[in-house]
Amino acid sequence: MRAPLAALVALASALAARADAQEPAGAVVFRACQACHSLDPARPGMAGPHLAGLNGRPLGAAAGFDYSPAFRAAQARGLVWNRDRLIAYLADPDAVVPGGWMSPPAGLGQADRAAVADYLLGR
Ligand code: HEC
Repeated sequence: MRAPLAALVALASALAARADAQEPAGAVVFRACQACHSLDPARPGMAGPHLAGLNGRPLGAAAGFDYSPAFRAAQARGLVWNRDRLIAYLADPDAVVPGGWMSPPAGLGQADRAAVADYLLGR
């Protein structure tokens, strides 16, 4: 799946809002993910799975989300999310889950990936 325009617009506004020091950097980066992802497990109908409780969560484990065969295979291999794996996935999804459906938002740098990983993993 290619990132739709909405995600790029969200990223642009996330980058523009970076001067706002009130919010942690990872929360600002996460705005670019919210076109497809919620942190609320009860919110249905998103293009991507909810990302609540990601630290130590098995890959492909959000109840009710219809994952790609690639993610189902990753789950069957017993892989779980941690900081290194999430940063690697956001840099190159195929390196972690070959053949999965997500294209990360364009324009993320290594510091953005680390910040959003820390935010999602609750550090
Ligand atoms: C255009 C929509 C879209 C955007 C934007 C997007 N994702 Fe995704 N994401 C998906 C889809 C779809 C999947 C499921 C992929 C599959 O089944 O192969 C996914 C899967 C994931 C997973 C795996 C979750 C699990 O249950 O194992 C993580 C983690 C993730 N995305 C993080 C992010 C982060 C962080 C961002 C922002 C930097 C982001 N995504 C932006 C669509 C998106």
